[in-house]
Amino acid sequence: MNKPFASVADQSILVIGGARGIGRAISERLAEQKANVTLTARDPARAQAAANDIQAATDSQKVAGIELDVTANTADRLNDWFDDHGLPQTMIYNAGVSPIYERPENVTDQDWQLIINTNLTGAFVAARTYGQRLIDNKQSGSIVFVNSIAGLVGADRLSAYAASKHGLTGLVKNLGMEWAGRNIRVNAIAPGWVRTDLTAGLQQNAVLEQRLIDSVPLGYLAEPADIADVAVFLCSDSARYVTGATWAVDGGLTCG
Ligand SMILES: NC(=O)c1ccc[n+]([C@@H]2O[C@H](COP(=O)([O-])OP(=O)(O)OC[C@H]3O[C@@H](n4cnc5c(N)ncnc54)[C@H](OP(=O)(O)O)[C@@H]3O)[C@@H](O)[C@H]2O)c1
Repeated sequence: MNKPFASVADQSILVIGGARGIGRAISERLAEQKANVTLTARDPARAQAAANDIQAATDSQKVAGIELDVTANTADRLNDWFDDHGLPQTMIYNAGVSPIYERPENVTDQDWQLIINTNLTGAFVAARTYGQRLIDNKQSGSIVFVNSIAGLVGADRLSAYAASKHGLTGLVKNLGMEWAGRNIRVNAIAPGWVRTDLTAGLQQNAVLEQRLIDSVPLGYLAEPADIADVAVFLCSDSARYVTGATWAVDGGLTCG
């Protein structure tokens, strides 16, 4: 018998970058649906505090918080965690940065490396580490990346970010194709504009904010929960026939 729609109850799910913004909303939604959630943040105290808050507010049996910096020792850190806790049914990779808003000619090597390392290389290393362990153990699993509409179309003054996110779109297609036979589903969501720290600068400028709102066919900027609900669906058995896909969750921004 099929599981109920979008059920993630009792799944063990690792949310990389799960203490703030969209990742935090994903962690909360998963815990509300009784998944066992482990979320990461670079600051261990932040990870623990977020986990405690979510645990207190939900019926999840277990919400834990651990430290992880995806530009550092991702493979070793994940392997250690897998050794201690087993393999999660789903790994969500939400970590991402967009620290600059510059024309391509003004992007420094340092900015480029930070953006590519965090948004793309970290995503690949995390996926390779988790996928290898699943394959070695002959276990099924699923990966959900948080991409961006900048992974689907160009984005003014965000060339490094768009390059990193387009790389992620390609990675999802390839992993989806190559690991389908291993029973590992790989998908991504591509949010449009979402009200988080990442877009705080844009939201603080009333004229710019209104321009963004006017550009969205549905007529408003997303809250993190609007994105989280789709991520939760992709983790669930209801999405069992979806792999290699990047789903725009953008209020219609990329329709036109
Ligand atoms: N907001 C938007 O409009 C929007 C639109 C499209 C796509 N996105 C994507 O959505 C994702 C989440 O962004 P957000 O809007 O929620 O931004 P945010 O509030 O700034 O959160 C960024 C997340 O990335 C994590 N992170 C950054 N660098 C990291 C590193 N080196 N190692 C580990 N984790 C790291 C942060 O963890 P810490 O807690 O350690 O800081 C945090 O969880 C990103 O991939 C972003 O590209 C956002």
